[in-house]
Amino acid sequence: MEIIKVKGGKPLTGRVRISGAKNAALVLMAASVLAHGESVIENVPRIQDVEILISLLQSIGVEVEWRQDSTLAIHVPDNVCQRTPYDLSKRLRASNLLLGSIIGRLGFAEISLPGGCDIGSRPMDLHLKGLQMLGFETQVEHGYILGKAVRPKGSKIYLDFPSVGATENIMMAACVVPGSTIIENVAKEPEIVDLANFLNAMGAKVRGAGTDIIRIEGVPILKGVRYGVIPDRIEAGTYMTAAAISGGDVTLENVIPTHVQPVVAKLRESGAKIVEVDDEIRVTAEQKAVPLDIKTMPYPGFPTDMQSQMMALLSLANGTSVIVENVFENRLQVADELRRMGARIKVEGHTAVVEGVERLYGTCVKATDLRAGAALLVAGLAADGTTEVGHAQHIYRGYENVIEKFTNLGADLEAVEN
Ligand code: EPZ
Repeated sequence: MEIIKVKGGKPLTGRVRISGAKNAALVLMAASVLAHGESVIENVPRIQDVEILISLLQSIGVEVEWRQDSTLAIHVPDNVCQRTPYDLSKRLRASNLLLGSIIGRLGFAEISLPGGCDIGSRPMDLHLKGLQMLGFETQVEHGYILGKAVRPKGSKIYLDFPSVGATENIMMAACVVPGSTIIENVAKEPEIVDLANFLNAMGAKVRGAGTDIIRIEGVPILKGVRYGVIPDRIEAGTYMTAAAISGGDVTLENVIPTHVQPVVAKLRESGAKIVEVDDEIRVTAEQKAVPLDIKTMPYPGFPTDMQSQMMALLSLANGTSVIVENVFENRLQVADELRRMGARIKVEGHTAVVEGVERLYGTCVKATDLRAGAALLVAGLAADGTTEVGHAQHIYRGYENVIEKFTNLGADLEAVEN
């Protein structure tokens, strides 16, 4: 098992460059299956989730290779396979994003259900409802989604919840379905806008990404393009929180400030000093955090992917905070691990009441998901003694060069395998 040991008490100082966004890179890689000819995607983070999706694409016949450090070249053959393998799909929730692109390209698809994970059951009802309204027949059999085009045509779709994945799958399929599609109550995350820009560069006609309504005119063919992934707003938020909890002075490079506004606003409310200049953000914090109330919401609300990291910060605030998780049904488990470090957190349903304590103590803890792992690292930076974060492979899934980046900021971090 992979463990990351972090010795607390050292304020982070210096500069850190933010990598390409995991949740944009993954959907762009999936969308490239729609393209005829080669796609070249730049600023792709070298993280485990990307490596797993590369293997998955290769297993269905797609040629994928790393060019320079962060550039992927992807070429999709005409005989690309419609069926994704269970063994790789179960390791990556985002494997479900191949549904929209494979069914869009081939007219049929057999996508392994990626299964739930620790933060919730992760159903796909909204994905399937949208595809059915686009004239695809879908059924779920033996752990696979079987879909095929029956009367593919544009449609008016209303999403009961602004699901990121459902918005993405429906967008990808609608781009190559004849006629006009209107999708209402869509996700507005920056990754949705990045996908729309990528699809339009490929020759699609997508308008309104980033608003509540997306309009798409279907086109017969999409071509491979060269495109750069946006910076990772959640990685950025994680390093900003690390700077705040450690009482440090850190400048983040390669950030799009508007994408991190919800986190900047809350960190400022907690007392951190944040200065934005072009694509850099400087975070300094001298005193303990001021307690806050946080409610996670779909973008532009406070991101659920930053909820655990903020819980770590607020565990040391000088007062009591309330965190409500509105997006996933089971994403407060990091409280159990933070309690092991001395945090005082009471969880009732979707709400965590965090009573700030004087200090946290290093001990052995376990990452239950990617962001919980990041939160435990963040907590370890400010804890007395050494914190051993187990199941650290969760962290490597989504944080590029995490040991090196934190070490360069002065953190006392060591990766061990046992
Ligand atoms: C994406 O997951 C992200 N993953 C998640 O990031 C992120 O937390 C999430 O969006 C919300 O922002 C990728 O982009 C690869 P959803 P996704 O569909 O698309 C329910 C990380 O840490 N729902 O917006 O799976 C669902 O159960 C990861 O980087 C349905 O009910 O999220 C959840 O409660 C974690 N039916 C809520 O919607 C559906 O058909 C939000 O899920 C689909 C979703």
